[in-house]
Amino acid sequence: MSKTPSLQSPQVPASEATPISELCKRLKRLRLFEPSVGVLGFFIVTLCLIGCFFYLDYTAAARGLKFAGRSERFSWLESNRSAEVKRVDFLGEEGTGCDVFEGDWVWDDGNYPLYESRDCRFLDEGFRCNENGRPDLFYTKWRWQPKHCNLPRFDARLMLEKLRDKRLVFVGDSIGRNQWESLLCMLSSAISDANSIYEVNGSPITKHKGFLVFKFNEFNCTIEYYRAPFLVLQSRPPVGSAEKIKTTLKLDQMDWTSLRWRDADILVFNTGHWWNYEKTTRGGCYFQEGSEVKLEMSVEHAYKRAIETVFQWIQSDVNRTKTQIYFRTFAPVHFRGGDWKSGGTCHLETLPELDSSLMPSETWTQFKIFNEVFSSTSLLSQSGAFELQVLNITRMSSRRKDGHASLYYLPPGIGPAPMHRQDCSHWCLPGVPDSWNELLYALFLKREVEANSSLNKAV
Ligand SMILES: *[C@@H]1O[C@H](CO)[C@@H](O)[C@H](O)[C@H]1NC(C)=O
Ligand SMILES: *[C@@H]1O[C@H](CO)[C@@H](O)[C@H](O)[C@H]1NC(C)=O
Ligand SMILES: *[C@@H]1O[C@H](CO)[C@@H](O)[C@H](O)[C@H]1NC(C)=O
Ligand SMILES: *[C@@H]1O[C@H](CO)[C@@H](O)[C@H](O)[C@H]1NC(C)=O
Ligand SMILES: *[C@@H]1O[C@H](CO)[C@@H](O)[C@H](O)[C@H]1NC(C)=O
Repeated sequence: MSKTPSLQSPQVPASEATPISELCKRLKRLRLFEPSVGVLGFFIVTLCLIGCFFYLDYTAAARGLKFAGRSERFSWLESNRSAEVKRVDFLGEEGTGCDVFEGDWVWDDGNYPLYESRDCRFLDEGFRCNENGRPDLFYTKWRWQPKHCNLPRFDARLMLEKLRDKRLVFVGDSIGRNQWESLLCMLSSAISDANSIYEVNGSPITKHKGFLVFKFNEFNCTIEYYRAPFLVLQSRPPVGSAEKIKTTLKLDQMDWTSLRWRDADILVFNTGHWWNYEKTTRGGCYFQEGSEVKLEMSVEHAYKRAIETVFQWIQSDVNRTKTQIYFRTFAPVHFRGGDWKSGGTCHLETLPELDSSLMPSETWTQFKIFNEVFSSTSLLSQSGAFELQVLNITRMSSRRKDGHASLYYLPPGIGPAPMHRQDCSHWCLPGVPDSWNELLYALFLKREVEANSSLNKAV
């Protein structure tokens, strides 16, 4: 897989987008040179139709009109693909084993978004696309629908009740922060007293390194974020190392902040966007195992070793009776026609990819490596000693090219950003990360249901 460079700016993390964009380019070429005028005409008519539907819907919404069946205009988007499938309730007994990550994005104008960005104090300006001038709101109105089961509707108060006296911790890169802020907004929408939610050290929610701990006072619970983009420890190289070695990633040790979150009740990991040449070796950051710096080690191999270290740490250092662990898989980026600095774009994407067949999972190196390590680790510990829930969101999110901040990551007055500086890595909020959190919510409740039923069986 070819490498695309990444940004120094914290605004936009690394990208690995070329295979997707290449695929798109290839498709585009096919379309353009198709000799049949009919096919081309069909495409144009379809585009116009889509445009009209959305335009009409948007003006209706803008006027505040509500007439029955408005959303039915979009029901064709579901195109009866799953009309015959009878879906069970995921939390019910029949729902056990349902793969909630296989499904479709369906238009749900009535129930989404779950909150408005202007009502949420916990959002970085970089995620406030609508307030930053993004003209369409369609990206906020898609619901994830698993193929074979229905998810429980997100209930913020119920979730907070379940989190009473607990700590929920996100650890990872800025896409993890994206998801953490989404959850803060989803949960705080149920709390009327804004002052009862606060950062325990009084830190402001601006982009900075380190960690932030928000407490929901009424429920005595905290929702925390620790910045650890590699998950493993980055620190000074051994004494006497060559001068080009500025720092090393110690692939066999966890990030030093792990002491702070090892005892959390719920841990949500992610990593991936920093595992590339630009963010490591190019800046003088090399890989180290034991006391040895491995100058020749590839980033992919280092990434694999790091994931193994996280898994080993979970088995040896975490009390899994107390701590539930989730690992969110790689969140795809959508730069077309280049990468973040060569003018790659996702601007003007206003619709998801409704056909899932376009994205082979081999597209994402990190995703592939994670899946390999995960399956070999769970094989090694069939006893169930290895307990980790995968938030397997890579494929579903790959269909949401419309969900990124694109030009709208700068606040009004400063933005929108220039065309050649688009953010096609981070996601607008409300938006796609809300769906990841709804899945987290579903898995979290499912776990309790199963614990209950095994208790009942034991009795
Ligand atoms: C889709 O399925 C529904 C029932 O499941 C049916 O009433 C409707 O006619 C179907 N629509 C199309 C376009 O086939
Ligand atoms: C709040 O939760 C913590 C655990 O996170 C617990 O130790 C403490 O006793 C709780 N405080 C109250 C007032 O219940
Ligand atoms: C693990 O956590 C459970 C539940 O909090 C607790 O009862 C148990 O003592 C802990 N085990 C160890 C070894 O700390
Ligand atoms: C995640 O989903 C993909 C399909 O999108 C599948 O190939 C992979 O095995 C899944 N990984 C895990 C760890 O469940
Ligand atoms: C699990 O059992 C507890 C105690 O009986 C109950 O309060 C809770 O609602 C149950 N949870 C679910 C999800 O059924």
